[in-house]
Formats: sequence, structure tokens, C-alpha cells
Amino acid sequence: MAGPQQKSQPMSSQNLFSIQGKVALVTGGSRGIGLMIARGYVESGARVYISSRTKEVCDQVAEELSENGSGTCISIPADIHSEQGIQELAGEIIGREKTLNILVNNAGANWAAKLEEYPDDGFNKVMTLNVKSMFVLTRELLPLLEKAATPDDPARVINIGSIDGITVPKVENYAYSASKAAVHHMTRVLAGQLGRRNITVNAIAPGPFESKMTKWMLDNLKEMIVATCPLGRIGKPEDMAGTAIYLASRAGAYVNGAIIPVDGGITTQ
Ligand SMILES: NC(=O)c1ccc[n+]([C@@H]2O[C@H](COP(=O)([O-])OP(=O)(O)OC[C@H]3O[C@@H](n4cnc5c(N)ncnc54)[C@H](OP(=O)(O)O)[C@@H]3O)[C@@H](O)[C@H]2O)c1
Repeated sequence: MAGPQQKSQPMSSQNLFSIQGKVALVTGGSRGIGLMIARGYVESGARVYISSRTKEVCDQVAEELSENGSGTCISIPADIHSEQGIQELAGEIIGREKTLNILVNNAGANWAAKLEEYPDDGFNKVMTLNVKSMFVLTRELLPLLEKAATPDDPARVINIGSIDGITVPKVENYAYSASKAAVHHMTRVLAGQLGRRNITVNAIAPGPFESKMTKWMLDNLKEMIVATCPLGRIGKPEDMAGTAIYLASRAGAYVNGAIIPVDGGITTQ
């Protein structure tokens, strides 16, 4: 016999995916995956800071996004491989904003070389930027994230990992794949700590998307890569922006510590 029927709670699905008026920082927002996310955020009405080392490009991209979106985009050039660069970037944001709703830790580097030739400095560069800088920037921006955080609308940290941190890659990118596995685990560790302070921490693990980083691979191996993808294609900007918007909106408020592959199913193979 069926039990007593539960009364359903009223729910407003209006504006469920809205990020209108939120303040975001996207590191590496000047091109590739960071740009896909920044564009999606600006078009959705957010105030978005983008950061990268090359000032002219960063400034130009911010101007173009501001012209074409309902939100605004502001450029803060910085090299976040160094502690000083991280402090400068965090200082700029803290100087300009009272709260930070969304931090997208996207800037990253790759290095591929044969095992015997894999350079120590390449290994260190990748590990520092992809893992340590992500941690330090998040730590430095915690006060601002915490000021934006409420139980109903937590502040969001979104780390960009990779499917190379989930499955064993075909290319010899030892430091990169290790760094991305570290990003995924650090995401879960931080989610456990920061969830209690109303800050969610999740990771997006992208499959192949067009960017400077993937240019050689997609120019030379695209057919093979597409053949391994159940959906039979590489990612589009909307695929990346959509997941990043979901995680930053009310729709994603209860997601914490998740590693979301956005890869057309490549990691199922
Ligand atoms: N594209 C893919 O298919 C794919 C797949 C899986 C994961 N990912 C991840 O997605 C993220 C973005 O990659 P992408 O493919 O878009 O690469 P990308 O085209 O090389 O873009 C990297 C971005 O980071 C910036 N950047 C690099 N080093 C920096 C530093 N030291 N300080 C500040 N900014 C720096 C770059 O600008 P400047 O050079 O001007 O500094 C650029 O804006 C990375 O974490 C990558 O591992 C990408």
C-alpha cells in the first residue's frame, strides 16, 4: 500500500540559471577555455575580471566582451606563476570589489616530452601554475568569497582540471596529467573544508576544446580524438560556458566537490 503522499515544496525555476550581477574572476580568461567561460558570464550579465600575462591581449579581449555582453569585463594582467603575481592580482580585486561570487581557476600550462628527456624545470613550471598557484590564489581571495557567501547562494570556486587527470593520456605529459589529478583531489579536499563556510568548490574536467594549448594536437590528431568520443566531436564554447554557468548559478548551489567531465563521454571509453 502506498504511504501518505508528500506535499511537494513550491519551487521557482525562474532565473534558475541566472548569474546576473554576480562578480567573477576568470584566470587565463584571455583565450581558449577561460575566454569561453568569461564570454558566457559576461553575456549572462556578470561583472567579470579576466587575467593573463599578455596585457595587450587581456585588455583587448575585455574591451570586446564588454561591448558585446550585457555584463562587463575588466582586464587585470598578472603572471600568477609567481607568488608576487598572485598577490598583485588578489590585491587588485580586493581593492575594487567588496565581494567575489565566483572564482574560476583556469590558467594552466602543459608540457609534453619523452620520459628520458622530460625537463625538471618543465615539471616544476606545470606543477606550480596548475596546482600551487590555484591553491594560493583561492586562499588569498577567501575573505572576499566569504563575504559573498550565503547558505542559499554560496560563493563558487570552479577549478579547471582535465580528463587527463581521470584517465591515462596517450601523450607523454607526465607533469600535466599528474597536476590535473592533483587539481581534482584538491577540489574535493577544499570542498569539504569550504562548504562549511558556504563556499562550494567543484572542478570541470574538459575533454578536447580548441585552444592554443591543444592546437598541435587538434591539427595532427583530431580524427583519432573524435573517433574516441561517443558524441563524435570536440567541445564547443557553449558546452564549456554552459557547465560553468550552471555551477555558478542557483541551479548549481548544492553541487560541492564534484569533478564534472565535459568531454562527450571520452572518459567512458
Ligand atoms: N583546451 C582543452 O582542450 C583543455 C582540455 C583539458 C583541460 N584544459 C585546461 O583548461 C585550462 C585552459 O587551457 P586552454 O586550453 O584554454 O589553454 P590556452 O589557450 O593556452 O590558455 C591559457 C590561458 O592562461 C593564461 N596563462 C598562462 N600562463 C599564465 C600565467 N603564468 N599567469 C597568468 N595567466 C597565464 C594564458 O594567457 P597568457 O599566455 O597571455 O598568460 C591564457 O589566457 C588549462 O587549465 C588547461 O589545462 C584545456
